[in-house]
Amino acid sequence: MSERAYRVALIPGDGIGKEVVPAARSVIDAVGRRFQFSCEWAGFDWSCELHARTGSMTGGRSIEELAEQDAIFLGAIGYPGVPDHVSLWGLLIPIRRRFAQYVNLRPVRLLPGVRTPLADRGPDDIDFLIVRENNEGEYSEIGGRLYKGTPAELAVQQSVFTRVGVDRVVRYAFELARTREAKHLTSATKSNGIIHTMPFWDERFQAMAAEYPDVRTDQFHIDILSAHLVQHPDWFDVIVASNLFGDILSDLGPAIAGSIGLAPGANLNPERAHPSMFEPVHGSAPDIAGQGIANPIAQILTGAMMLDHLGETTAAAAVVTAVERVLAAGATRTGDLGGTATTAEMTASVISALE
Ligand code: NAD
Ligand code: IPM
Ligand code: MN
Repeated sequence: MSERAYRVALIPGDGIGKEVVPAARSVIDAVGRRFQFSCEWAGFDWSCELHARTGSMTGGRSIEELAEQDAIFLGAIGYPGVPDHVSLWGLLIPIRRRFAQYVNLRPVRLLPGVRTPLADRGPDDIDFLIVRENNEGEYSEIGGRLYKGTPAELAVQQSVFTRVGVDRVVRYAFELARTREAKHLTSATKSNGIIHTMPFWDERFQAMAAEYPDVRTDQFHIDILSAHLVQHPDWFDVIVASNLFGDILSDLGPAIAGSIGLAPGANLNPERAHPSMFEPVHGSAPDIAGQGIANPIAQILTGAMMLDHLGETTAAAAVVTAVERVLAAGATRTGDLGGTATTAEMTASVISALE
C-alpha cells in the first residue's frame, strides 16, 4: 500500500508527446514503488487528433476539470493539420493562464557525458535557470486584423506588461537566485528598441533589486544576451525574461547543453492556489514522431521537477541521479545525442539505473 498518493492529470498531447509521456510515467511509477508513493493518473486525450474529430482540442470539455488535480503532466501540443495558433491557444496557453502558472522555470545544465557544441566547455560552465514570464507580455490576444486579403491589410498585436505580472515573476527570480551559490540574477531586456514595455520591465527589475541587496544583478539586451549565452555561458546563473524572450532563450540554452531532448520545464503557480503543469521545453517533433526514437529524458527530468514540487524530493533526486548515471556511462544514447537507442531502451536504462 502506498503511503502517499497524488492526483496527476496526464496529457500526452501530440507527436512524440504520446511516446515520451508513457516512458516518463513508467519511470515515475518505478520510483514511486521504491519510495512508497503513487500517482493516480487521470488520462486526457486532449490533442490535435481530437481536434480533427471534434473541432475542439478538449473534445468540448472544460479545462476546469484539471482544477482538482495536484499536478498536470503534459507532453507536447501541436501537429500539422491544425494551425499552431489554434492548437496552442486551444489548450496549452489557456491552461497556463487559467491556473496562474506565471513562472515557466526551465533549467539548463550540461550533464556529464553529454557533448556540447561549444568548444572547451564542460558541466561547470553551463548551469543556469531560465525564469520565463508565462502569462502575459508579448503573448497576448489583444489586437486584430483588418482589410484581410486586400493590399491594405494589416495586423496589430498588443504586448501587455502589468506591474503585478512583472513584479511577481521578477520577485520569484530574485528569491530563486538567493537560494543559489552564485546569487546572481540577469535580466533580459530590450529597452533600447522597445520603447514602452521594456523600460517599464527595467524599472520594475531595479526597484525589486533594492529589496535583494544580497543578489548580484546585471542586465543585457536580448540580442547580445543571446551571443553571451554562446560565448560565455559561465556568466549566467538565473536569467529572468519576458514571455517571448524566455521562450527563445530556453531553446538556445538546451542547444548549448547538448540537446533539446534533455530539457525539462515547469509551469508553476508558486502560491499553489492551482495545479502547476510540468512539460518539457521541446514540442511534438513531427519529423521523428511515431518512430519510437525520441529522447525521453526531457520528459523524465520534467517528471523529477513534478515530484520535487509535490514534496517527493528524495525520489526526484533519485530520478536525476539515474539519468546522470545513464548519460555519464554513455552506453545508451538516442539519436539526438549521436546514438541509436530507442525511446524504450533509454527508458529501460534509466529505470535500471534507479535500482
Ligand atoms: P520541436 O521541439 O517539436 O522540434 C524541434 C527539433 O528538435 C526537431 O528536429 C525534433 O525532432 C527535435 N526534438 C525535439 N524533441 C526531441 C526529443 N525529445 N528527442 C529527440 N529530438 C527531439 O519544435 P518545433 O518543430 O518548432 O515544433 C513542433 C510542434 O510542436 C509545433 O506544432 C509547435 O507549435 C509545437 N510545440 C509545442 C510545445 C509544447 O507543447 N510545449 C513546445 C514547442 C513546440
Ligand atoms: C514552449 C512553446 C510554446 C510557447 C508554444 C508552442 C506556444 O514554444 O512551450 O516553449 O511559446 O510557450
Ligand atoms: Mn518554445
